[in-house]
Amino acid sequence: MPVKGRILSGMRPTGRLHIGHLSVLQNWAALQNEYECFYAIVDWHALTTSFDETSQIKENIREMLLDWLSVGLDPAKSVLFIQSQVKEHAELHLLLSMITPVSWLERCPTYKDQVQQFGLEGKDISTYGFLGYPLLQAADILVYKADTVPVGEDQLPHLELCREVARRFNYLYQVKLLPEPQARLARVPLLPGIDGRKMSKSYGNDIMIAATPEEIRIKVRAMITDPARIHKTDPGHPEVCVAHKYYHVYAAEGLEEVETACRQAAIGCVPCKERLAAVLEKTLAPYRERREELVASPGVLEDILAQGAERARQVAGRTMTEVREAMGI
Ligand code: TRP
Ligand code: SF4
Repeated sequence: MPVKGRILSGMRPTGRLHIGHLSVLQNWAALQNEYECFYAIVDWHALTTSFDETSQIKENIREMLLDWLSVGLDPAKSVLFIQSQVKEHAELHLLLSMITPVSWLERCPTYKDQVQQFGLEGKDISTYGFLGYPLLQAADILVYKADTVPVGEDQLPHLELCREVARRFNYLYQVKLLPEPQARLARVPLLPGIDGRKMSKSYGNDIMIAATPEEIRIKVRAMITDPARIHKTDPGHPEVCVAHKYYHVYAAEGLEEVETACRQAAIGCVPCKERLAAVLEKTLAPYRERREELVASPGVLEDILAQGAERARQVAGRTMTEVREAMGI
């Protein structure tokens, strides 16, 4: 296996994932063949905003792991683990907190916005833990000396902080211990939710990777179409139709035909959506089947996570020995 380097990435356990996550996961899965990959379910990060509602975390971890596996993350190739089962992340976070100026965390572009945003929703996240969110993320990466981090664009400030902290550590202790990781951005097709807004669980406008054929049909039927098409005989404008955007990503072979038919009012929205639902169903079916197999095999998830944590601890433990030595403790 040609190894280009080491990857670490993480996701907060939010439960079942929607199809907006599909390309992210497919990208992670593809990277397994080129890199040594560590993929973490970052449950401590989930606590930074959900410290007061923790009852779902374990279930959310399980559901997300099922999606990861069903899409092709492979425990034979990658290390799949839960952050809180590898205490070295916490130790490195603590040690790095000694050398990280508070101002670096406060100036993180997302920080003040988010504290304010949550405040408007009546939730106080002006906590120590939330301020330290990006530093914990830095520890996640640096404890494996990962050189490559596949993330979305929104995470670039966090990666920049990670590099700055690594540089400061190496400078202060006169070592070349912590490599500065590079972000690896993937082209992610931006699919809106069925109502045209950003796809999000909280809006209820998402389609789950694990959706049943019936659930898919209901969601596709509810997609916002061209509002000017009241009657089937009204010519449509596919560019303003949500279903059309889904054709783009999932049914590219039928795209042109549907566009033309829509503009000429030769196809109604109902059959157009039925066709789309059928394609989506076919796309998602293998994932759902894989998930069902996993659900029917008791102990499999626990074994994968136990093994993942074990392998992660070995690598993280070696780094921590070096870090302690460099810091003289
Ligand atoms: N902050 C990331 C997100 O919200 C999740 C995350 C935590 C992460 N630790 C990480 C991503 C380490 C990459 C590497 O998406
Ligand atoms: Fe959208 Fe299809 Fe209706 Fe055109 S025919 S508006 S593309 S659902």
